[in-house]
Amino acid sequence: MTTDYRKLFALDGKVALVTGGSRGIGAEIARALSSAGAAVMVTDILEKEGQGFAEELRSQGIRAEFLKQDVVVESQWEETVAATVKKLGGLDILVNNAGIEKMNFITETTLEEFQKILDVNVSGVFLGCKHAVRAMRPGGIAGNGGSIMNLSSIAGLVGIIALGAYNASKGAVRLLTKSVAVECAQLKTGIRCNSVHPGLIKTNMGDHFLQNFVDLKLVKTTQDSEDAFMKSIPMGHWGQPQDIAAAMVYLASDAARYVTGAEIHVDGGFFAT
Ligand SMILES: NC(=O)c1ccc[n+]([C@@H]2O[C@H](COP(=O)([O-])OP(=O)(O)OC[C@H]3O[C@@H](n4cnc5c(N)ncnc54)[C@H](O)[C@@H]3O)[C@@H](O)[C@H]2O)c1
Repeated sequence: MTTDYRKLFALDGKVALVTGGSRGIGAEIARALSSAGAAVMVTDILEKEGQGFAEELRSQGIRAEFLKQDVVVESQWEETVAATVKKLGGLDILVNNAGIEKMNFITETTLEEFQKILDVNVSGVFLGCKHAVRAMRPGGIAGNGGSIMNLSSIAGLVGIIALGAYNASKGAVRLLTKSVAVECAQLKTGIRCNSVHPGLIKTNMGDHFLQNFVDLKLVKTTQDSEDAFMKSIPMGHWGQPQDIAAAMVYLASDAARYVTGAEIHVDGGFFAT
């Protein structure tokens, strides 16, 4: 029997939920999943930007909705998952993309700062996995299995100066993903779970990351930061949100039906050195 690979990568008829989707990598993931055929629910704490983005997608004929959602609030996860199933007819794909980053030396990081980063980047992903699995597993309100993708980072793989809280959070996302993957596979839920590890990507957060080095007086200018960081990337340049979004289309699709608990590095070769 020949396999129709175009069909294998298509997301027609699927419903995706993307957190932190009002801008940056999340917005591009929503564009990519919808261009591959999925209906998309975009959520974020940035309401105006999110509403505008969903309208932009709808004006292109895409089935898209926006809901204001703070990923650290469990009741909002219950509401968001229920609303996605009700408005778009199911839930097959979850992208836990919402995240925050702040650099500081470990000696200067307050417990509140540390806990805030862990809360959004780890508890937010935990809650997303919990409520998506409940909905996607057999007997759940969506009930067709599915694919969950969690945004980790190269900072979930290696330590970086003054990035302790963020490193801890993204390392936790990496292993939480593997645990969810194994549990979902062994319980025969039909749900896969994988992590994606971007390198330096050109977004608000990417720019802010370079600015941190200046603020901490590690370099003089953001150009110095950029020059230093580029030396650690074999390809020698930034990644774009599209590079992450393309990996998400693959992981969301049936082309990745035997892929779970994996980590996809989209980093210009950073982790290979
Ligand atoms: N840009 C990079 O270089 C880079 C590298 C590695 C990993 N990442 C990860 O990719 C993801 C997206 O990053 P980005 O570069 O697009 O950042 P960004 O700051 O441009 O976008 C993040 C989005 O998450 C939203 N968000 C923040 N806290 C939230 C909360 N509590 N509830 C709901 N939404 C919330 C923000 O409002 C924003 O729209 C993050 O998880 C980030 O850690 C980014």
